[in-house]
Amino acid sequence: MQILHSRDALHAALASGPHPVLVPTMGNLHAGHLALVARARELGAPVIASVFVNRLQFGPGEDFERYPRTLQRDAELLEQAGCDLLFAPDEAQMYPTPQTFHVRPDPRLAGELEGASRPGHFEGVTTVVLKLLQLVRPAAAVFGKKDYQQLMLIRAMVEQFALPVRIEGLETVRERDGLAMSSRNGYLSPAERAQAPQLQQALRALAARARECTELGQLPRIQAEAEQDLRARGWEPDYLSVRRRADLQAPADDEELRRDAHLVVLGAARLGRTRLIDNLEF
Ligand code: PAF
Repeated sequence: MQILHSRDALHAALASGPHPVLVPTMGNLHAGHLALVARARELGAPVIASVFVNRLQFGPGEDFERYPRTLQRDAELLEQAGCDLLFAPDEAQMYPTPQTFHVRPDPRLAGELEGASRPGHFEGVTTVVLKLLQLVRPAAAVFGKKDYQQLMLIRAMVEQFALPVRIEGLETVRERDGLAMSSRNGYLSPAERAQAPQLQQALRALAARARECTELGQLPRIQAEAEQDLRARGWEPDYLSVRRRADLQAPADDEELRRDAHLVVLGAARLGRTRLIDNLEF
């Protein structure tokens, strides 16, 4: 596997050969990322993973500084997973001049849920993803569904800007106890780690109650009770919310609430100093 740190080296490496498949990451890789690489390999083109901790998508007081930088181990894992090239730029390569042009994602989607809790987050995500797509010019790029809203926004950006890339979304990879794999799981103390599957359990319980619910008017109470349950177990929830899969808006009427297989429940909550997110389609 080639490891490249500069844009020039990347351009030279990509000058000939087929368009690759890109797996963008912020590093500190786990089995979820390696599943993205495995999916990328199935697409039959050379696989490029990027590792770049993107300052633009972190808000003030978030974990940009302490986000784990584990490039050597990441490179070993990628090599074992059959990745062909690792692009690991530093900030000077990625943002040689301050990034003053930013993508402004549709606020109807980017201002909800994660966007409401982390203002500016999706502007940072879409800006760096657009830049990575420009640098790598992949035929396809693979993202995980754990970051459900991120995946939707990237699909929407690609569609709106007519970017010549196919976006693949892959199911969330979970630990045996149901916890969604995340680089941030490493922040959890052993006691918190034992408790962490409660977020997924809360989403399952909320989805089950929403399934039984026949009137939309009952949904806010059910969601508030789900948040309250988590709070009682020591979490600080940002949101637990039932949304339409298609646009992440709340279901519009009773009929929509009752229709099968088009809703998703999304949640974000803090356990100690660690903020976890997860979701469940139902
Ligand atoms: O999902 C992530 O790891 C990041 O948001 C991404 C897509 C690599 C952009 O920095």
